[in-house]
Amino acid sequence: MTWAEPGPPASYSWEATDEGVATRFGLTVGQIVRFDLNTSPAPPALLGEMLAAGTFETSLSEYPPGDYRRLVEAAAERYGVGTDEVVPGAGADEILDMAAKAFLRAGERAVVPVPTYAMYRVVTEQRGGVVVPVPRLGPDEGFALDLPAMREAARDAALVWLCNPNNPTGAEEPEGAIEALLDTIKADAAAEGRDPAAVVVDEAYAEFTGRSLIGIRSSYPNLVVVRTASKAYALAGLRVGFAIAAPASLARVALYRPPGSIGTISETVVTRALREPAAMLANVARVAAERPRLLAAFETAGWRPYPSVACFVLVDLGSAARASFVAGQLLRRGIVPRTFSAGHPAERCLRLTVRAPQENERLIEAIAQIAPEAARVTAHLDPDPATTRLASEAAQPVPKEPA
Ligand SMILES: Cc1ncc(COP(=O)(O)O)c(C=O)c1O
Repeated sequence: MTWAEPGPPASYSWEATDEGVATRFGLTVGQIVRFDLNTSPAPPALLGEMLAAGTFETSLSEYPPGDYRRLVEAAAERYGVGTDEVVPGAGADEILDMAAKAFLRAGERAVVPVPTYAMYRVVTEQRGGVVVPVPRLGPDEGFALDLPAMREAARDAALVWLCNPNNPTGAEEPEGAIEALLDTIKADAAAEGRDPAAVVVDEAYAEFTGRSLIGIRSSYPNLVVVRTASKAYALAGLRVGFAIAAPASLARVALYRPPGSIGTISETVVTRALREPAAMLANVARVAAERPRLLAAFETAGWRPYPSVACFVLVDLGSAARASFVAGQLLRRGIVPRTFSAGHPAERCLRLTVRAPQENERLIEAIAQIAPEAARVTAHLDPDPATTRLASEAAQPVPKEPA
């Protein structure tokens, strides 16, 4: 196990915009389809209705309600918790930022099982915390947590970041694994007479499996669960997420909630989306129906898709050079994949979102065209220098997943 000295945060930049990708590849914005953001093809119909009606919880000339009471009540009901167990934020990302502020002081350690969502590293380093990366088990073990290594790393850590189902692998932990880790963290801390590390479990994709750790929060006061309206609820642009925990931990997170970071439109729409989950459930059903078609297409191409329970699939292309080549070819066609920079554990892979049937069809057709040439790409010899250049350009719109 290695860890870095505290220093400036890992650099990251935002994803390339549709306009940016279109300009770079000589396309129109209308030709761009985002397979890199794990978002949904369209928001729920209630959004259009509410925007057309133009009536929101309070007048838009005023600030949103300081306690977001209606949003918190709707979330508490949806997640089956008390209103004193929910803190809202501007997306899961703001919740992660609040959690880092609540649980980490400069120089303290935060355990990050890798590969995983890149923001855990970023928010840790922004706090002057020290990231302790713990490699996950390999693909044949479903990228599961290495429980003994996690236990060991958590011994002198203030915070443990978990993502379940995990981005970018698309896998979820085996039943009971996170509970077992929580138990050992609790037992080790009790034996050593100190507080256990806080454990933040990011469940951004939990609706796609229907499983959650929210139900065990009362047994683990150090557990904080993160949820979002961005993924299954298809409302990423509204920027709403939640921290859910037993009241004592939650109160620590709440101290770092900025005032008014969720706009009134977002608050009003997400309140209703939480109360009327039919569209969310239909979105989950769409992903379940479409995902096998993508898996089959990747296999037909001779690539190795990893099993996924989420709204995206990680595909192993066999080499970083081939992944880069395919990314370049997809981008030329307006299809934006998530790529991983050199040295990242998933550098041989692309991650592709499960989108609408017609969009997925476009991806499948593109793969069929690209696969024969991709098969000839080796790590040492790229047949087309122009493609090499494009592929390295293709590696640029991937900022959230540095090595
Ligand atoms: C695991 C994970 N957590 C959090 C986020 C960010 O979610 P939000 O849009 O709610 O900030 C993402 C987005 O891709 C994610 O994959």
